[in-house]
Amino acid sequence: MHKESRSKYNAHLIKLILAVIVVGGAGLFARQILTPESMGQYGHYRGADIVDQKNVAVRLQTNESCFQCHKPIRKIHKAGIHGTVSCEICHGPYGDHIQDGKKIGTLPVKRGKEITQLCLRCHNKVIQARPRESIKMVGLPQHLEEKQVRLDNTCEQCHMVHDPLLWIKQAKQMMGTTEAM
Ligand code: HEC
Ligand code: HEC
Ligand code: HEC
Ligand code: HEC
Repeated sequence: MHKESRSKYNAHLIKLILAVIVVGGAGLFARQILTPESMGQYGHYRGADIVDQKNVAVRLQTNESCFQCHKPIRKIHKAGIHGTVSCEICHGPYGDHIQDGKKIGTLPVKRGKEITQLCLRCHNKVIQARPRESIKMVGLPQHLEEKQVRLDNTCEQCHMVHDPLLWIKQAKQMMGTTEAM
């Protein structure tokens, strides 16, 4: 009587141990199948990942990379006040446009009101965190009111996008007021 109740207690334990062995075995089997081959080759990561990362195509490039083909813009942009601003900020990544030295896609070119939005991403007075000594800010509509133009004027009507002060300097020269620059 006493013995029988004891063996029942063991049966319960054996079921538990069997369950652990089955689940653990399945786990080990899955690990065997799912672990990538080069796992642990150099450390606790997939060794082949180094090669994969090396082969990720570079999408962003320098302004110099654009100048090879866009020579007229080179002259204007490089000499102008926007010379340090990246072409890709306004036009998108090199990799969408050029592959192996050939044009493979069209980059977006903003027009009209979209240009105003683009300019205000960097020049909007409401962006408090921007260091004022490195980048001049304008408020709208104050900037347009000051210049006494209609409020639907867009930025590129007065500022050439690739050198925003070019036309303004020329206008001032023509009027003999260059010293203000
Ligand atoms: C501040 C933003 C900005 C930067 C920086 C900029 N662009 Fe532009 N770009 C524009 C805008 C906006 C236009 C459209 C001009 C317009 O409609 O007056 C344009 C026009 C162009 C065009 C003519 C496309 C067309 O169909 O009219 C080319 C090519 C171009 N940019 C190349 C470049 C290159 C190369 C650089 C870097 C040297 C560069 N851009 C830097 C904003 C920019
Ligand atoms: C291998 C030559 C080459 C390089 C490098 C190159 N472009 Fe172009 N791009 C072209 C050609 C060709 C056109 C179409 C004809 C044209 O507008 O001059 C073009 C057109 C454009 C246009 C007008 C819209 C379009 O896609 O047709 C923009 C904007 C532009 N390029 C920006 C850039 C920027 C920014 C870079 C650097 C990140 C760049 N390009 C690098 C050859 C090049
Ligand atoms: C990615 C940020 C960025 C964008 C977008 C941008 N700018 Fe600029 N802009 C600058 C920086 C930075 C300078 C200052 C460069 C320097 O002083 O070396 C500058 C300078 C200027 C200046 C000269 C200010 C002065 O008197 O010193 C004007 C005007 C200007 N930008 C107008 C524009 C217009 C118009 C657009 C839209 C077509 C535009 N910017 C888009 C970053 C930007
Ligand atoms: C009606 C012409 C006109 C339009 C449109 C215009 N600007 Fe200007 N902006 C000027 C002139 C002219 C200056 C030169 C500053 C001066 O001498 O008063 C200037 C100066 C600036 C400056 C330098 C400010 C400073 O403190 O020196 C920035 C930045 C600027 N503009 C950005 C923009 C942006 C962004 C837009 C579009 C929202 C725009 N501008 C639209 C005429 C214009």
